[in-house]
Amino acid sequence: MKALKSLFDTEIIWFISFLLLFLNFPYALEAANQFILNQVESGEPTTVSLRHVFHHGSTKYPNLFRRMDLTETKVRTQELESGAPLTFTLMGINGTGIEYVKENAVKEFRDMSKNKLKSAKLDWRDIPKYIPLIKHWKTLINLAKLTYNAYVKPEDQDWYDLGKKYGLNDTFGWDQDGIRGYVFASNDNKTLVISIKGTSMGFGAGPTVGNDKFNDNRLFSCCCAYVDRTWSSVCPCYLDNYRCNQDCLEKSVDEDELYFAITLNMVDRIMKEFPKSVIWITGHSLGGALSSLIGLTYNIPAVAFESPGDRLPARRLHLPHPPALPAEKMNIWHLGHTADPIFMGVCNGIRSSCYVGGYAMESKCHVGVTCSFDSVEKLGWRVDIRSHRIQEVIDKILNVWETLFGDFPHCYSDEDEEECVDCGLWEYIEGI
Ligand SMILES: *[C@@H]1O[C@H](CO)[C@@H](O)[C@H](O)[C@H]1NC(C)=O
Ligand SMILES: *[C@@H]1O[C@H](CO)[C@@H](O)[C@H](O)[C@H]1NC(C)=O
Repeated sequence: MKALKSLFDTEIIWFISFLLLFLNFPYALEAANQFILNQVESGEPTTVSLRHVFHHGSTKYPNLFRRMDLTETKVRTQELESGAPLTFTLMGINGTGIEYVKENAVKEFRDMSKNKLKSAKLDWRDIPKYIPLIKHWKTLINLAKLTYNAYVKPEDQDWYDLGKKYGLNDTFGWDQDGIRGYVFASNDNKTLVISIKGTSMGFGAGPTVGNDKFNDNRLFSCCCAYVDRTWSSVCPCYLDNYRCNQDCLEKSVDEDELYFAITLNMVDRIMKEFPKSVIWITGHSLGGALSSLIGLTYNIPAVAFESPGDRLPARRLHLPHPPALPAEKMNIWHLGHTADPIFMGVCNGIRSSCYVGGYAMESKCHVGVTCSFDSVEKLGWRVDIRSHRIQEVIDKILNVWETLFGDFPHCYSDEDEEECVDCGLWEYIEGI
């Protein structure tokens, strides 16, 4: 035990030295990226409260799709019971978003890209869009609170199943399987915020079994979580010696029952029900990565907290990314801090807690704009998986940062493939 502990400490020291080195990198980018998050200071407030909860099963219960609507009375009861407010005020600004010129452009783009038709091209135009004011502390804190998983208990009886196809009437699967979408709406339904919750990111609470891990390992590992001989692969794409079958990988992240597909399905449904609403999407960790992937797909402003590197799955899924699109225009923001190994993409290697828990969290680059709180430097934190938890982030970082330091953290973009590299050791073979 002692030996283990000292190994762990050595690892932390190594991490910190590595981080100090690594941290110089965003500062080098500062000059180039100063425009990022150059948002005005004030905006239009909107108040949203929890209105609907969707639950979609995945591998184990792929046909489970349920929904619960909450009345005002119910919201108030829930608030009293849980002690957590379910109504939040958020500040937004009239900013710029993009829209694809062609209907079904995304689907076409993905199909063409998947089939390696390199002519796949997307035309887009700027459109006015009500977007979250990220630099407004209260808004950021409230968005983080929306991602906190305290709402609506599984034993609640008011769920109903959606459609015949989903008519399983199954109450199982809540804990092990699937994703949940919490829909917060303003009273006039003009603004909707969807908070995506991947059900059990059990980091810190010990390894969790099952599907979340399976999904994580498919999305964020270099090659099917084939980390070394002691690991069993989550897909059959490993070839040999750091060589991996790219086509096989792309299929492996895009199966119907996997989290990306079911989240897409759920959000699609919500968008159809509220065609006139402005929609934002948010999430923490796996939920954060999913919200940013969905944001990328549908041009929905997305705010992700402590997400693992999502650029790798975004590319494997062939999500649209017009080459000339500046990162800030994507309206995707990643918020995280430097002591969180998942967000920093350093939760890998034989002595990391991710490795020990069976998670191959190997990606580190993020899509869109990344704003990083330097908890290592400014708060003196050590890199520790426990600081990944959203409660820690809200209480010990977001709530106190302005008072302690005044300034908003540094923002940069990982979009440049040369500046941020995922899985550099691996070679990906196409067309075999
Ligand atoms: C669905 O579930 C409810 C509550 O568990 C139960 O009362 C009802 O009989 C079930 N309906 C069917 C068709 O199985
Ligand atoms: C908002 O949407 C919900 C769910 O579709 C609906 O029940 C409600 O009447 C809508 N409210 C307004 C003011 O349109």
